[in-house]
Amino acid sequence: MDSLLIRGGTPLHGEVTVSGAKNAVLPILAATLLTAERCVIRRVPRLSDVTFMVQILRSLGAEVAMEGNTITVESPQIKGVGDYDLIRKMRGSICILGPLLGRLREASVSLPGGCVIGLRPVDLHLKGLRALGTSIEVRNGNIVAKAPDLRGAEIFLGGRSGPTVLGTANVMMAAVLAEGVTIIESAACEPEVTDLAVFLNAMGARITGAGSPTITIQGVSKLHGAEHEVIPDRIEAATFAIAAAVTNGEITIKGARAEHLGAVLDKLREAGVSIERKGTSLIVKRAGKLRPVDITTMPYSGFPTDAQAQMMVLMAVTEGTSIITERIFEGRFMHVPELARLGTDIAIEGPSAIVKGGKPLSGAPIMASDLRASAALVIAGMVAEGETVVNRIYHLDRGYENIDEKLRGLGAQIERVAER
Ligand code: EPZ
Repeated sequence: MDSLLIRGGTPLHGEVTVSGAKNAVLPILAATLLTAERCVIRRVPRLSDVTFMVQILRSLGAEVAMEGNTITVESPQIKGVGDYDLIRKMRGSICILGPLLGRLREASVSLPGGCVIGLRPVDLHLKGLRALGTSIEVRNGNIVAKAPDLRGAEIFLGGRSGPTVLGTANVMMAAVLAEGVTIIESAACEPEVTDLAVFLNAMGARITGAGSPTITIQGVSKLHGAEHEVIPDRIEAATFAIAAAVTNGEITIKGARAEHLGAVLDKLREAGVSIERKGTSLIVKRAGKLRPVDITTMPYSGFPTDAQAQMMVLMAVTEGTSIITERIFEGRFMHVPELARLGTDIAIEGPSAIVKGGKPLSGAPIMASDLRASAALVIAGMVAEGETVVNRIYHLDRGYENIDEKLRGLGAQIERVAER
């Protein structure tokens, strides 16, 4: 396993380009199963989660070619039974359920495990698919689904923590080939859901309302191949913007979509960070003394849970007290004990973290636990005095394309080493 060796104290400067969005490309790759024809997906980030999804598609019989950041998929013949061990390794693999039901009217997919940020149930996925006429049994750790006559329905998909992103994706991908009209109420509004709908419509689906809480899908009999360029990764852009502010540098983030980052840019400005839009670039630097801000994570277009850990590091280097409340995942504070090793002063009270910021941080060996927590630890290491070693960075490689190279390109003293 690799580690990242980081020497803190260097403000980031220069330009960095955002890669394609992990959380858009995973359901879009799954959606290619809905047609036997050739699909070409561009601006695909080279991530281990993408490699996993490609292995899953191949295990179902798809022919997949990867060339640089372009993936070509053809699935003339596919089977509905996923490889148990492969599928259970990645949460995002649950989104092959919808397309397999849409294409084959049957599927057997392993129940995705939880992960360190929370239980991550799939009850809403199953509720939505059942509403479309699917019979579902959970047997030997597999979701065994059959839908001989998949038909449209009106479905309320909101859960106790609000909408479900991949649940909305799954229902949409089954509904596109169902008989009749499906209306999803309390649908997730994330840009990644909209990007999936754009790709499905390019394949001949008839989806309206994506990006709003009500999505309408008019079922069609067949979908054809299509080409699609994935939207840029808003969470990667947010991560770099926060890193620039934490290290007191000035960077230009190229290819970001500011309209996908409303809540993040708003909170950064409130915290005393200047963000200037120049075409599809964002120029980020501190605008003077940083100010503590309170944050509550919400479904889109609220503050994204995937940027919570990174923002906590900014608050840890800001004089004053901030309260960060995590309303989406019950276990998403795994980064707090590791940040404490660097000298942060953060107390957890239920769903909230109380950050007493402004104390100087000093480097230490720390352990990554999940994707976004790892990013937070790397950002903290870049501002902590001395050397920080972040272990188990395979978590990071799941969701950030060449992050150490990109950060070195911005002047960070960071290198990938074998685990210490
Ligand atoms: C997607 O996960 C993202 N992953 C997550 O990004 C992101 O944090 C999350 O959406 C929220 O924005 C991908 O797109 C691959 P949810 P997803 O269903 O779809 C509860 C990252 O770091 N829920 O929107 O699995 C759930 O427990 C990852 O890139 C149910 O109760 O998340 C959570 O509390 C982490 N029942 C809330 O809803 C269900 O059936 C939101 O989960 C499904 C979800």
